[in-house]
Amino acid sequence: MGAVLEFADVTVRRGEATLLDEVSWTVEEDERWVVLGPNGAGKTTLLQVASAQVHPTSGVAGILDEVLGTVDVFELRPRIGLTSAALAERIPRGERVHDVVVSASYGVVGRWREDYDTLDHDRAASLLTELGVSSLTDRTFGTLSEGERKRVQIARALMADPELLLLDEPAAGLDLGGREDLVSTLSVLAMDADSPATVLVSHHVEEIPPGFSHALLLRQGAVVAAGLLDDVLTEANLAATFGMPLTIRQEDGRWSARRQTRHR
Ligand SMILES: Nc1ncnc2c1ncn2[C@@H]1O[C@H](COP(=O)(O)OP(=O)(O)OP(=O)(O)O)[C@@H](O)[C@H]1O
Ligand SMILES: [Mg+2]
Repeated sequence: MGAVLEFADVTVRRGEATLLDEVSWTVEEDERWVVLGPNGAGKTTLLQVASAQVHPTSGVAGILDEVLGTVDVFELRPRIGLTSAALAERIPRGERVHDVVVSASYGVVGRWREDYDTLDHDRAASLLTELGVSSLTDRTFGTLSEGERKRVQIARALMADPELLLLDEPAAGLDLGGREDLVSTLSVLAMDADSPATVLVSHHVEEIPPGFSHALLLRQGAVVAAGLLDDVLTEANLAATFGMPLTIRQEDGRWSARRQTRHR
């Protein structure tokens, strides 16, 4: 297989606004990317194109060896696992956690078929175990905490054995312990050679799980830098992305950043 994502000058416009500005980006099968950028930078829009929800206004978006605009998106979308706030809102609050996950095998939200086979049920159960939420299987989605919901959504995104996993701010709304637990879980996933190519959107370098390989920095719809984490996460690139001088550190595979103080 060629690249999982191959974007050439992908531009998305809405009226006068340019949401993505000539983004060229390639994601290979064994890569795990983090996409960083301030509010409004275009991160969610980028994932909407990558998940075949939004077509570029100009440029070419190659996804899983298909070209968006020349392919039936209803065949492409089931090959992609996605978690996002917009998707989470569509999950019925009264849905049983097990069903939230198992229903993804048919790409639907809300259980609609009664004849999922044993393999589907076993897979849903093992994913809930892998994500550390097997004890919640009989609860309804609406009764879960934010962190628990995030884990169930990731299990759901993995249910159909996707070739591409897209996670839009999975750590948003989590407390410190919840974030650290999720970073560990994503790190285990990232280091598993059987995991799909993964793109994780975040605002914080602290949320980059060990095992992630690449970073794309976005500002005002344009790519500031893209490539291997160590090459991209420089103080100059972060300053250009977030519009302020930042100090960045890496320790034990984890990153941290803060505003640069005057006395250095
Ligand atoms: N239909 C639209 N018309 C005009 N502007 C839009 C439209 N949809 C999104 N935008 C703008 O496009 C920009 C990029 O939005 P996007 O949601 O991709 O940003 P983001 O990087 O995900 O931000 P956040 O970190 O806040 O989630 C924002 O400024 C947003 O207001
Ligand atoms: Mg967003």
